Amino acid sequence: MTSLARTEQEVRSAIREARGAHRRIGLVPTMGALHAGHLSLVEAARAHCDYVVVSIFVNPTQFGPHEDFDRYPRQLEEDCQCLEGRAELVFAPTVEVMYPPGFSTFVEPPQVARRWEGECRPGHFRGVTTVVLKLFALVQPDVAFFGEKDYQQLQVIRRMVVDLNFPIDIIGCPLIRDDDGVALSSRNQHLSGEERERARALSAALFAARRAVAQGERNVERLVTQMMGVLRAARVDRIDYVAIVDPESLEPVEQVDRPSQALIAAHVGSTRLIDNLRLDPCASGS
Ligand code: PAJ
Repeated sequence: MTSLARTEQEVRSAIREARGAHRRIGLVPTMGALHAGHLSLVEAARAHCDYVVVSIFVNPTQFGPHEDFDRYPRQLEEDCQCLEGRAELVFAPTVEVMYPPGFSTFVEPPQVARRWEGECRPGHFRGVTTVVLKLFALVQPDVAFFGEKDYQQLQVIRRMVVDLNFPIDIIGCPLIRDDDGVALSSRNQHLSGEERERARALSAALFAARRAVAQGERNVERLVTQMMGVLRAARVDRIDYVAIVDPESLEPVEQVDRPSQALIAAHVGSTRLIDNLRLDPCASGS
């Protein structure tokens, strides 16, 4: 049986009971509208822990004033059904529970948050670090699970728990794609059929870069130009960035002479999409 907690008191009491039973607690933070990408995190949590908590909260502080907070998909009932038997506890607080009147303390994100998403979405990571820290404080998990889909977010959280001495193991889980290559995302729901076709360009560009690296290309400028070409040919509406970076610091590299991460953010119609892929000069292309 999966329980639902909506208040601080409810979540604390469920966690106290789990702790009392010496359960290993795993937390999967989400904003809901669950898909197979989220469920892969839940499965990883199940494999590592014997008390799985999934939080569902569309966090207002990580959305900019002109972003999609209002139209972000919300489907709590469906999400709870989907988690039935997969998680012990769903924590779905209201905005008032997480941000009561007078709330004014925020977590300053680490250096790794500065570029890419940090630059395109000012304040985004400050909202993420703040809400994730609050979830950690409420659930006190032994382990927390984050997807490589949000590659920079994963690095930000890894740094935050080290810097702020949280005794929580952070496990990064592989990015899950649909059959057509598109990274699963709650925001894909907004894509029309024609936009969905164009959205394939993000993964197509990344895999083209991987093939080029497998064929010996090491020059980042040329790889980025090639990726931009794929995006433009597919007529994506706006490219926020295309970059190849060090996998930990997220600083740009000039040559792919060691494993590096390719990152893309682009708009298709009114939907902003992100995707990423590891480029390894020692791997064969696929
Ligand atoms: P959300 O976008 O709902 O994602 C929740 C978790 O699922 C994140 O760790 C994300 O990386 C992972 N995820 C999403 N799509 C995935 C995919 N296709 N493959 C693998 N993992 C995937 O990320 C957030 O919510 C929020 O920022 C949050 C951390 C909950 C803080 O509000």
